[in-house]
Amino acid sequence: MKNVCVIGAGTMGNGIAHVFAQGGFRVSLIDVSQEQLNKAITTINKNLERQLSKGSINSETKEAALNNITTYTSVATAVKDADLVVEAASENLSIKLDIFRQMDENAPKESILATNTSSISITKIASVTSRPERVIGMHFMNPVPVMKLVEIINGYATSEEVTEVIIDLTKQLGKVPCVVNDYPGFIANRILMPMINEAISSSYEGVAGVEEIDTVMRLGMAHPMGPLQLADFIGLDVCLSILQVLHEGFGNPKYAPCPLLVNMVTARKLGVKSGEGFYMYSAGSKDLVVSERFSRT
Ligand code: CAA
Repeated sequence: MKNVCVIGAGTMGNGIAHVFAQGGFRVSLIDVSQEQLNKAITTINKNLERQLSKGSINSETKEAALNNITTYTSVATAVKDADLVVEAASENLSIKLDIFRQMDENAPKESILATNTSSISITKIASVTSRPERVIGMHFMNPVPVMKLVEIINGYATSEEVTEVIIDLTKQLGKVPCVVNDYPGFIANRILMPMINEAISSSYEGVAGVEEIDTVMRLGMAHPMGPLQLADFIGLDVCLSILQVLHEGFGNPKYAPCPLLVNMVTARKLGVKSGEGFYMYSAGSKDLVVSERFSRT
């Protein structure tokens, strides 16, 4: 396996392109927007620079990684020699189905089509292709260059051979594969999102303040970030949409999103990406400041 295409140059897409390029693969990074592609290359450069300054890579690796990446705005052109395509576009079913139809039509018949979806059914995505046995979930975690886990999700029809190839590939990237089956939220989000939802409910019900909830989980459970900070980091809209997938998929009220989460998303308080969620975010500052809304007595 040499040629890897990554579709989508957002946070996850640029991280995935980064780790494949650093691992010595030729990477085609695809996005409809050239501006987004330019931003992605700037981010990859910055993150490689950070690794270089920490001494975790040398300057040859950095230069080689950047040289391994080519950008494209057309899926059809970029995927024609792909051994593997990893889709990391918006978490929207119709967008993903459309991209998978294009990938299937244009990529070589033997190539593997993977998706970085955090909750959409792999089986459903595979069903719009002519090769469901070669479709698989490769769920990277954010920030991709740092997080060790890749949750590998077998769709209903994924072949054992394809799973083995993706396990080996994940190890080649220096990451740890964990294979799970295709049910709502897989494992990562089936467990993470109810915890985040419960933290939001604890705030909504006035059990404790934002800082207190996060401190309990950081210092008491050794989580690197508290659940409310993590929700801001993931994006409150993403958390809401994953909870909706769990709620609909299992038909169990325990997954119903907290009304406070719904309100915050409706008010476009989405966390880091919008500048405000449970905390306030300003460019260049690492200080964690609770949003005024939650610091009121
Ligand atoms: N690229 C390269 N290196 C990076 C990086 C990036 N994008 N971001 C951070 N780093 C490196 C830093 O250089 C630093 O390296 P050293 O340890 O060598 O010094 C290290 O990561 C730690 O970074 P910082 O010192 O800046 O900050 P930190 O100690 O607060 O760590 C964090 C940041 C790694 C994000 C940490 O807070 C953390 O682990 N948070 C939880 C992350 C998490 O849970 N992610 C999963 C989210 S869920 C998801 O992704 C899936 C889903 O479906 C919703």
